Parts: sequence; structure tokens; C-alpha cells
Amino acid sequence: MIEKGGVYRYDALASTNETAKEKAKNGAPRATVIIADSQTAGRGRRGRGFYSCEGGVFMSFVLRPRFAVTAAAITTAAAVVVCDAVRAAAGRDCRIKWVNDVLLDGKKICGILTEAVPGDGAVILGVGINVALDGGFPEGLRRSAGAIFPDGADARLKKDVKDRLIGYLIGAFADFPDKTPYEDVMAEYRRLSAVIGREVTVIAPAGEYAAFAEDIDGAGRLMVRTADGTSEALSSGEISVRL
Ligand code: BTN
Repeated sequence: MIEKGGVYRYDALASTNETAKEKAKNGAPRATVIIADSQTAGRGRRGRGFYSCEGGVFMSFVLRPRFAVTAAAITTAAAVVVCDAVRAAAGRDCRIKWVNDVLLDGKKICGILTEAVPGDGAVILGVGINVALDGGFPEGLRRSAGAIFPDGADARLKKDVKDRLIGYLIGAFADFPDKTPYEDVMAEYRRLSAVIGREVTVIAPAGEYAAFAEDIDGAGRLMVRTADGTSEALSSGEISVRL
């Protein structure tokens, strides 16, 4: 028998990733799903917080991969799945800003955070999608953050789209990443890239520098070339791009 987890839905949580992690430590099986209608302490990458916009989708999945796979590979594939979900739920086409920001009309509408559970084979995959901007964004996020309905929509439509996103993602991540054809996903990731062929700013610990984004390789590394002709393969980090 293949044991699969249940779907747990809450009105409010500090962080769905945190709750998923606790459940995983207590033995929750693969495909356990945690959903919250609001988050008070959503977590983002690099120790940052994630602003959890009212009415958004906040979900975390307990994954128990059956093969060795990095958190980076899971996140890359998940970004493609989120683009599919937004297309299916709202008929809108997203792009991906390396590594894993999902953009709509040049603004980030989704963040993805993959975290390993220490001492356990489990990996937590967290997805946050802004459906509308009803509660507004804090000053620092207004320029870069967006939503599926940035100018609002009626309550019924927003709820329908939110429910469709949740349903799609539960289905798509049920056997994830075990049945994910990674080669195909990488081809799709490249096709959806908002970065390939553009001038970018690489934000490195030692400082920022301008580069041209040439490609993304099969391992998800961003291949960049600087003005002096130096090529580099970035396996993690952050870039900014003017869209
Ligand atoms: C990022 O862009 O920095 C990643 C943000 C990830 C946010 C989601 S919302 C659901 C899940 N729970 C969290 O605390 N974080 C992730």
C-alpha cells in the first residue's frame, strides 16, 4: 500500500512551511498538504519574510522523494508547475525569473521555498501566490510585487481562481518529484524564462555586476557573460532584470 497524506486546511497559520515541517518530523507521509487562508509569519528565501497578501494561496507540501534530488531542482520544477497552474486557473501566461520567481506582467506573483527537514528524508515545498492586492503591499514591495488580479475582481471570481489553483497544485504535486520528467521540465523552464537573452544585474555577496544571461543549463545554472567576455555558471544566487 502506498500511504499518502491528507489535506489540512487552516484559517491562519504563522507559516505553512513551519507546520508542514512539524508534521513531517512527526512522520507525515508524502503528499501531505498544508493550506492556510492567511499567514502571519510567512517565510521567504535567504531568511527573509514573505508578505502574505490577503486572499492569496499559501500551501506547503510534504515531499518524500524516492531518488536523490536537490532542493534547487525541486524548486525549478515547481516554478514550471505554478506557471501551468496559473494558466489553467486564470488563463494567464507567467514567466520565470531565475531562480524561482514567477512573474505576471513583469511583477512577482509567486514565491517558492523548498526546505529540507533535518534528520529526515522529507523536503517541504512551499508556494505562495498573490491572487489580488486587496490588502495592498508594503511600500518596499509595491514596485516589484503583483497579483493575478492586480486591479481587483469580484469576490466570486477571486475565490474560484484561488480554489482552482489549490486543486491544480494538489493534483500536480501528489507524486512530485518522483514522476516529473526533469528533461522536459527544464526545456519548459527555459521557454518560460524571463531572463535568457537579457542584460541582468548579478547580486553577489562581493557586490553587484552587470552581465548578459546567455542560457540556463540542464542543472538549472544560469550561464552569464560579463562585458570583458568572462563566462560564469551561477548555481544559486539572485539577479535583477529590467522587464
Ligand atoms: C520567496 O520568494 O522568497 C519564497 C517565498 C515562499 C512563500 C511561501 S507561502 C507558503 C509557504 N510558507 C511559507 O512560510 N513560505 C512559503
